[in-house]
Amino acid sequence: MLNVPRCASVAILVLQLLLSAMVAAAPADQWTKRSIYQIVTDRFALGDGTSPSCNIGERKYCGGTWQGIIDKLDYIQEMGFDAIWISPIVENVEGVTDGGEAYHGYWAQNIYSLNPHFGTADDLRSLSNALHQRNMYLMVDIVVNHLVAVPTSNTWPQSFDYSLLQPFGGSNCFHPECFISDYNNQTDVEQCWLGYSGLPLLDLDTENATTVNTMYSWIKDLVSDYSIDGLRVDTVKHVRKDFWPEFAANAGVYTVGEVLIGDVPYAAPYTNGLDSILDYPTYFAVYNAFTSGGNMATIADMVTQAQDQYNHGTFYVGSFVENQDNPRIPSIVSDNSIIRNAMTWPFINDGIPILYYGQEQGYKGGNDPANREALWPSGFNTEDNPLFAHVQALNAARKYAIASSPAFLLSKARFIPQSSASSTLAVSKSPLLALLTNGGSSSTESWSIPNSAGLYSANETLVDVLTCNTVSTDADGNLNVMAKNGMPQVLIPARLLSPSGSLCAGQAQGL
Ligand SMILES: *[C@@H]1O[C@H](CO)[C@@H](O)[C@H](O)[C@H]1NC(C)=O
Ligand SMILES: *[C@@H]1O[C@H](CO)[C@@H](O)[C@H](O)[C@H]1NC(C)=O
Ligand SMILES: *[C@@H]1O[C@H](CO)[C@@H](O)[C@H](O)[C@H]1NC(C)=O
Repeated sequence: MLNVPRCASVAILVLQLLLSAMVAAAPADQWTKRSIYQIVTDRFALGDGTSPSCNIGERKYCGGTWQGIIDKLDYIQEMGFDAIWISPIVENVEGVTDGGEAYHGYWAQNIYSLNPHFGTADDLRSLSNALHQRNMYLMVDIVVNHLVAVPTSNTWPQSFDYSLLQPFGGSNCFHPECFISDYNNQTDVEQCWLGYSGLPLLDLDTENATTVNTMYSWIKDLVSDYSIDGLRVDTVKHVRKDFWPEFAANAGVYTVGEVLIGDVPYAAPYTNGLDSILDYPTYFAVYNAFTSGGNMATIADMVTQAQDQYNHGTFYVGSFVENQDNPRIPSIVSDNSIIRNAMTWPFINDGIPILYYGQEQGYKGGNDPANREALWPSGFNTEDNPLFAHVQALNAARKYAIASSPAFLLSKARFIPQSSASSTLAVSKSPLLALLTNGGSSSTESWSIPNSAGLYSANETLVDVLTCNTVSTDADGNLNVMAKNGMPQVLIPARLLSPSGSLCAGQAQGL
């Protein structure tokens, strides 16, 4: 009899612990309603507010810190973001390597220490706290696949000072040195090394149970030590797939992986191990459509494949058009309307929108390292900045759609077929309808949404949240919209807008 109450109280305690863990951790469902601002910590803002020159071609630290991010959270929040993704936080290889300094954070050396260039453990906790006070989330970038040490000899295989690579410290914790030579051979992709002889990325032996368990414990502690809400996981396809489920379970928060590939069937299985992936297959279709006149219909095709093949469809993917590894869109095209159309994409489909810092300032950097500009020379300009306003409107529209329609986050984006399918796209995600074109500012494209699409009734007024201009369906409920200078349009029914709301109040027909 004595045992009964004891067991019961233990059970209650366990239940309480479980409940508190559920409240504290941020699973994928809590991320879908958010949008993410991606930051290269070294290039975003200095803790003392100064603006030193930053020669990006030198590939050296320019001085950005976690304190710098804390000081600029108003700027990020004003755009409507409620999550940030910061570059990797752990201690990296120090000094000038063959590839410059490790300012980007992807060259881990000691995973149990933080990168002192970005601040102290207290600074990182302060960032996490400052975000949580604003009901914002912290996503941290992490690398499992490799660590980095500068070779100490160039005879083959190369020598390294393994004692620098903590907590691993020996060649037996890494795969034997070989550089990936055959991307069609998955064993080669997983067990050979990224990098090159000047700067090899030592490939962790994720087939070794001791090493694997070290990584599982590490991620659990890291998430807990810094109250991390989500993880962006680097080079995921370079680690065997069955490593990831237990890793994600130990992380206990939303995980989104980098699987750098343009192919949905290849990428799809990784959405079973992690919560989801950065949607690279769709990215490539979007990038081609907007930078080289590629066929817009390819975007619809890729998304439809992804909706069918990814675990959770495309609801948990990270949706983006720029990041630290690819040339910025304005480095290829100068037409403002095309840039604006491309920027719109991540906000109007199923995935979680991600904006890469600097997009809102019209940054034009090409391939790495040019696409990792310092943001401070922009003065964090929010006034008379149409791109900043564009991002604000997109975030506001998405938030509005989520609030006004509980089904928004659970309804698949649908493409309404268009006669100029190669240069226009009509994406319906009720209550939003996004009309995109890659035709450019002299475009005379138009979109038609027949009444049979089931979206609108007769004589219905729709408001473009990007301009607050209105359009109407005809007496039969068909919608015909002309492009205005090739700009994107994001339409919402005027009856859903409120005259006391913050979104195009002057055009509202709702309560
Ligand atoms: C695939 O790559 C592994 C590792 O490099 C190698 O041992 C194996 O021979 C390769 N298989 C084929 C079929 O080429
Ligand atoms: C596995 O890794 C551990 C350290 O993580 C190492 O001590 C051990 O020697 C490795 N085992 C083999 C067979 O290489
Ligand atoms: C739509 O507007 C036309 C022209 O004003 C009008 O004749 C028609 O009755 C309206 N239809 C509906 C359903 O309100």
